[in-house]
This record gives sequence, structure tokens and C-alpha cells, in this order.
Amino acid sequence: MITLDSIRKPVLRELESYEAFVERQFTAEGDLLNEMLREALASRGKGVRPLLVALSAALNGRTEGAAGSPRVSLAAMLVEMIHLASLIHDDVIDESDTRRGRPSINARWQSHKAVLLGDFILARNMAIGLQSGQFDLVSHICGSMVALCEGEVLQSDCASKQNMTLRAYLDIVYKKTATLLGVSASAGAMAVGAAREKVSTMRRFGESLGVAFQIQDDILDYTPEAQTGKPSNNDLREGKITLPLLILLDRADAERRAELLALLQRCREDDEAVQQMQQLVVAEGGLQEAQTMMQGYVNKAVNILSEYEDSPYRTSLVHLCSYIMERNK
Ligand code: FPP
Ligand code: MG
Repeated sequence: MITLDSIRKPVLRELESYEAFVERQFTAEGDLLNEMLREALASRGKGVRPLLVALSAALNGRTEGAAGSPRVSLAAMLVEMIHLASLIHDDVIDESDTRRGRPSINARWQSHKAVLLGDFILARNMAIGLQSGQFDLVSHICGSMVALCEGEVLQSDCASKQNMTLRAYLDIVYKKTATLLGVSASAGAMAVGAAREKVSTMRRFGESLGVAFQIQDDILDYTPEAQTGKPSNNDLREGKITLPLLILLDRADAERRAELLALLQRCREDDEAVQQMQQLVVAEGGLQEAQTMMQGYVNKAVNILSEYEDSPYRTSLVHLCSYIMERNK
């Protein structure tokens, strides 16, 4: 099993510079804001986006040491803080009490403060970016926030109308997840002055990886808590149709589709309905087919990397693709 530690190895120095950069720059005035910010920073996750920035910078860096430049730390911070703020807001929207096994910001300090903390993180991020004068990176990275918001609104609209299609699902996934991963990978290349074609190659790579990442997230939501350490079936409880269920809906005739949608409606408040739907999705191959689709996106991402010569950075990026697919949290 590939571990994130082994994937990080070739860029450990760059990741340390990024962490020190965040520690120095990401400060807040006022006791409460400071306390909330510390909690948010401490509860950051796996750091896939900064890792992607650092590996892409190293892969595309023409000179030794370019990948450890302040531009790389800045790019890594910009993408990670957009991600962090979006999850704080997402937990408010989903009324979620936990994030990565800890109480969510909204559970600890109430929703209105969580909204403000997310706003503060975005504002501070933008201020640091603009003060740096690295406008190419700031506009490239911060432009992705539009897609995140569009994806979230589209998702909410489809959940209330229950009219999800494969096309709409992929559009949502592209906007809410793949865009920021694409921007992370391409920003790494941009930070070290790579040619425009390389920046766009890395964007395509990150986007394919991002679609795979979200499909795996949606599969993991159907996986028992015992295996993931995270409460399962949250999407069903929220009435969200993601790929595993969508596969069943797409195969169903009108009558069966109506039955499935009625069962999904009951999932919002009835745990038995949730269990029944979860079992149906497993038994009818929804998870298996979703896995096959995810593998397709991973293969696409790995193929894109074949444009590059073999190096420890390319190997780590290939391993990151496998890790995304095999991860259980
Ligand atoms: C997690 O999805 C949520 C996202 C990937 C995007 C959230 C975006 C917003 C709330 C829009 C606001 C945007 C900005 C830039 C602040 P999920 O609910 O499927 O995953 P989860 O299980 O981790 O909650
Ligand atoms: Mg959520």
C-alpha cells in the first residue's frame, strides 16, 4: 500500500517551507478569531493540494532549488486556504457536526461564526496574495473560487429537484473538486516559470485526478464507518444523489426510478431507508461501476504524466493517483 509519507518524500523541504510560510503569514487579530483560526489550521487534512503544487513545481522546475521558492509556498497556501474555507462553509450548509473526526467549526462556535471564519480565511488569503505582487498566481488560483460556488449551488439545486443526471453529476464534480486540483497542479508549474503548454498539461492532469478523487469520496460515503473511521451514508441522509446511486437510477425504468427516488426521500429521516438504499446500491453493482469509472480517470491522469521523463517527482505523482484510488479516508 502506497503511503502519503512516501509520496511526500521528494518534496519534504518544499512542504516544510510552505508550512513555515503559513505559520508566518496566516495570523489574525482578536482572541476569538485567533482561536478559531488556530483550530481550523490545526484540523487541516491530508494536504493533497499543497503536495500537488510542490510535486508539480519540482517536476516542471528547470533549475535546482526553483521548487523551494517563495512562489511555490505562496501557491500552496492560496489553494489550501480556499479549500479550508470552502469546507468550513460546506459544514455550515450540510449542518455537519464533525470534520475529520473533530467537532466542526459550526458545531463548536455556531454557524454564523463559522461563516465569518471562512470569509476571514478567504480575505486574508487574498490580502497575502495581493501583497506578494505575484498577480499571475493570484488570478490563476483565486479565479477557481467561482467554480466551487457554482458547483455547490448546482448540487443543492439537483438535490432539491431530484433531477440528477450523469452529465450534471460530472459538471458538479468538475466544479466543486476537479477545478481546484487542476489549479493546484498547474499553479505548481506556473510558480517555477514552466511553458504555457506544461501549465495546461498539469491542469488536465490535476482535473482528471480531481474527478477520481471526488468519485472515491462518494464511494467512501457508502462504505461502513468501521473501515473509514467516518460516519457513512451522509450523502443519502442529505438526499444527495452521487455516482453509485446514479448508476442504479440511470439503469432503472420510469417506475423503478420513482420507487428509488421515493426511498431516497425517506432517507432524510428514516435510518432503515438509508440501510435499505445502501444495500441496494451495493447489491446492484453501483459501487463497482463507480470504481470502474474512477479507474478511467486515474488512467487518464497517469497517461498525461507520460509526457514527462522518469523522475522521483513523476513517480510520486503516479503514486498519488494510486493513493487517491485506494485510500479509505
Ligand atoms: C465538500 O463536498 C465541499 C466542496 C468540495 C466544495 C464546497 C464549496 C462551497 C461551500 C462553496 C464556497 C466556496 C468557497 C471558495 C468558500 P462534500 O460535502 O461532498 O464532502 P464532505 O463529505 O467532505 O463534506
Ligand atoms: Mg459536506
